[in-house]
Amino acid sequence: MTETVKIDIERVLESRLPKTNFDQLPFGKVYTDHMFVADYRDREWKNARIIPYGYLPVSPASPAIHYGQSIFEGIKAHKSPKGEILIFRPHDNHKRLNISGERMCMPPVPEDLFMEGMRELIELDRAWIPSGEGASLYIRPFLFSADEYIGIRPSEAFTFMIILSPSGAYYSDPVKVKIETHFTRAVAGGTGYAKAGGNYGGAIYPAKLAQDQGYHQLIWTDGREHKYIEESGTMNVMFVVNGKLITPALSDSILAGITRDSVLQLVRSWNLEVEERKISVEEIVTGLKAGTVQEAFGVGTAATIAPIVLIGHEDKNYHLPPVEEWGLAPRILQELNDIKYGLKADPLGWIYKL
Ligand code: COI
Repeated sequence: MTETVKIDIERVLESRLPKTNFDQLPFGKVYTDHMFVADYRDREWKNARIIPYGYLPVSPASPAIHYGQSIFEGIKAHKSPKGEILIFRPHDNHKRLNISGERMCMPPVPEDLFMEGMRELIELDRAWIPSGEGASLYIRPFLFSADEYIGIRPSEAFTFMIILSPSGAYYSDPVKVKIETHFTRAVAGGTGYAKAGGNYGGAIYPAKLAQDQGYHQLIWTDGREHKYIEESGTMNVMFVVNGKLITPALSDSILAGITRDSVLQLVRSWNLEVEERKISVEEIVTGLKAGTVQEAFGVGTAATIAPIVLIGHEDKNYHLPPVEEWGLAPRILQELNDIKYGLKADPLGWIYKL
């Protein structure tokens, strides 16, 4: 792509906005009027355009459909009380998209294409950004193979898109999780660190089995021994044990969450103790029994800071202390929200103002 990205715009004839119910917005079910699309052909990005949101013509022979050659990102934009549009750390999502793309043999999306596509699209659909407490505009950039070839080889054609969804919380209630010690999300050398569609598709069945038992989500463990905590699939996980914040150290089987990084930076800036290290299931279960695990929570773009109130392991359920007694997770949530909604200074330079 050249220095300045040229984006053709085709507007909807009639907006769906007046017919959209913004009360009690669900996560990821409502989409704005337009979407951004760009094509990668002959080793070049071209044809950047914004068109009415709608179904896409995709070849039935696309490797995205057959082999899951598809990656994505999740970003949030919020409206400040002054009406400014504030996007949280989009440059970091752009970097991570290209890290995932390298693993999945996909071309890098240039930063200007990613940022300008997102800017123009949000400008056009700015009236869709919800202003209610806890609501945001969820931004979903994604890249997939557009080849028409069902042999296995690196693809040559790709489509990059951005869609926007005014959304409420991903988890509306405190979360109940089960520590998974049979199924595996990711292994060393695999694609766990990439935001690849297949990582999520493969997790649906084990998560469904847990949901049938009354849990919302799983905590995945390492694929080799099922001895160490990894992440939760929709979010990274953190614990407060004896006053200290601990979270699994990153590896190639854990997604490097941007919310995870933000939380660690914040808590370190408060001069509180933080450890990124291997955390065994045994350590957590022993701590739950002894009452030394004071808080447990998921952290992610969609999930924000999701308190975990119950952890299941091998047919036993362990309750965390009541959330009202927690100190750290609520403080982190408040601080992050204040920064995201422009209610507080942004000392770490996370906000990109449109
Ligand atoms: C996000 O938090 O943005 C994610 O991509 C998680 C997704 C499973 C909703």
